[in-house]
This record gives sequence, structure tokens and C-alpha cells, in this order.
Amino acid sequence: MKNLLHNIDEVLLMGPGPSQVPDEVYKALSCYSLGHMDYYFIQIMDEIKTLLQELLRTKNRLTLPVSGTGSAGMETCFVNLVERGDRVLILINGVFGKRMEDVAGRLGADVDTLEFEWGCPVLPEKVKQKLSQKNYRLVAVVHAETSTGVRNPVDEIGKLVRNHGALYLVDTVTSLGGIPVEADKWGVDAFYSGTQKCLSCPPGLSPVTFSDRAVEAISNRKTKVPNWYLDMNMVIQYWEGKKRVYHHTAPINMLYALYQALLLIMEEGQEQVYERHQRMHARLVKGLEAMGLEMLVEEKHRLPMLNSVMVPHGVDEASVRDRLRRKYCIEIGGGLGPLAGRIWRIGLMGHTARKENVDRLLSALQEIFRRGSNA
Ligand SMILES: Cc1ncc(COP(=O)(O)O)c(C=O)c1O
Repeated sequence: MKNLLHNIDEVLLMGPGPSQVPDEVYKALSCYSLGHMDYYFIQIMDEIKTLLQELLRTKNRLTLPVSGTGSAGMETCFVNLVERGDRVLILINGVFGKRMEDVAGRLGADVDTLEFEWGCPVLPEKVKQKLSQKNYRLVAVVHAETSTGVRNPVDEIGKLVRNHGALYLVDTVTSLGGIPVEADKWGVDAFYSGTQKCLSCPPGLSPVTFSDRAVEAISNRKTKVPNWYLDMNMVIQYWEGKKRVYHHTAPINMLYALYQALLLIMEEGQEQVYERHQRMHARLVKGLEAMGLEMLVEEKHRLPMLNSVMVPHGVDEASVRDRLRRKYCIEIGGGLGPLAGRIWRIGLMGHTARKENVDRLLSALQEIFRRGSNA
């Protein structure tokens, strides 16, 4: 019988995620599966929590990977922290802020938004103004907006939210493992992330963390968390304590992969990993600019792991991506929403952020442009 898996070529993943997976992580996926209540597996779970606390720079007890992709992490944070009628403010400058608005709205929250141009950062002075007009229970923002390549000033926004007294929720799906993330220092009450970006794992888990304040807010809810699977009150009973209580069957081998990926980051050193992302970003931008290409985002607001490049006038951006994929086995991303057709998104996430990958993409692009991008 035909097996499609036998014909998968290795594609260099330089899009907005998933990113390249190191061999050690692939090997971890193929370790023997253990039972989800097995004593040895529980040791691995405990190590994962400690490694996540280290990477998120937090002492939060409630720190664990949710079973599901980044969107499950987003849903987990909202569904646990927000109740019908709660006033919520979402700061939006791209697709993932928009998604937060949708998720909060579905829970019956009273949602206000503050929107900024795509490609520009959230402006703290506008947030300050907005917060002075109404009382909010929760304010949410995306740290690294993957749809544009903008880094939002989550630290500054955090100070304003803290003064206001609201809970502070931050999306770190694309930032975690690529730029520093400081849950405690920034006064964040809930963070969620994903495995397939700078952690260089396949997609499937979403690390989350909740501050003591957030845990208290969850315990003091007037109503039950309306989603059984993502209810932290129940999930924590499986992830904590001497005696573990079955909630759902953990994705065992994915958790091995996350464990291995976190170990790799710690072995290289967090600072070294961030510095490598920055260095590869500078190399890429220099090479692109030498070809006459321009970046979408102003230099001081750029993310190293997500590079938005303006498509030159008259170039069919989809055909360039198609040729990169078919002829050079390289994936890059296109634009979303108002930026569809106008930008390419080049990911330098985790294991992808290496000199040989940057150089391979640059020479492929050079060749495509030399031969005529629409040829
Ligand atoms: C910033 C951000 N938030 C949330 C998500 C959703 O994550 P997932 O696609 O893993 O569900 C993504 C995915 O690209 C993202 O980039």
C-alpha cells in the first residue's frame, strides 16, 4: 500500500512557524511511550514545569504546557480568567490581537479594543489614555505579532495595567525562546505560548503560566469555567501534588519533545540563544537590503525571529514562495489580512536561526530575482 510519509522531503522551514526541529527533538519523539500516570513520566512532567519557569522567568506555581497548540493556550487564559460581562481591553496591531477579541467576545465579555496600524507597535500613551476612561478587569496584548513582525512594549504596558489594577494577559507564542520574556518582572498575570516557533518543537503544546493573583481570580470565579478540557482547576490536579489525578491522557511523546527542546535551550544558554537570533536577523536584513528589498517594520520595533519584507512592485509574491518551496525546498510565509500580497514573512525561529539557513535563503532569492521573479 502507498505510504505518503515515505516521500516527505526535508523542507527548510523559514516561515512564521513551524520552525526547524533539531534531531535530538525528533529522537525524543520516538522514545518509548510511557503511561500517563507512570512514576517516571511524572518526573519528566515536573522537570518540564521547572524548565518552563526558568525560561519564562517566573516563580508561578501554575506553570505547565496545555495539550493543544498556541490557540488552545489563548483559549485557556481567557476561559479561566474571564466571565460573562467582564470588561476586557484588547490591544490590537495584527491577526493575533484580533483573534483574542474573538475569543473574549465568545465568552460574553464586554470587549473594548484599541487598534494600531499593522506594522506599527502598540503605543503605551494611547493605552494610558484608554485606561483612564473605564475600569477593566483584564487587558491583553501580543508580545511578538507574527502577522507583522512587530515587537510590542509589553514591559511598559505592564506598568500601566498594574497601576490600573487589571489582570494582564500576554501572548508569547512567537517570542518565547527567541527574545527575553520576563513574566514576573513585567507583572504579567497570564502568559501563553506555543512549541512550534522558537522552541523548535513540532506544534502541539502550549506552555502557560498564571500568577498567584490570576490563580486567586480563578478560585474566586462566580461561575464554573465553561470549558471542561481547559479548566485549570482540574488540569492542575494532574500536573501537581504527590498523588496525581487523571484529567485527560497527556500527549506523552510531545511532552518528551518539549522537554528535550527546553534542555537544548538551557544547554546553549538563554542569553546565547537570544543573541544568536539577533545576529541571524542582522545577517538576513543586511542580505535582503543588499538585494534592494525593504523591511516593513521600523528597525527599533522589529522582531528578530519574524522578518516582514516588502514585496517589490510588479513581483508576484506567491510565485516566489512557490518556487522557493518546489525548487529550493525552502518555506517562507506570505502576508495576512491587509498585508496579504504585500509582504513575505521570513522566520528565524529557534533552530532555524542559523547562518547556513540564512545564506541558503539569500542565495535562492538572488537566483530567483536574477532569472526574473515572474518567470
Ligand atoms: C502570536 C500568535 N498567537 C497565537 C497563535 C496561534 O497558535 P497556533 O497556530 O499554534 O494555534 C500564533 C500562531 O501562529 C501566533 O503567532
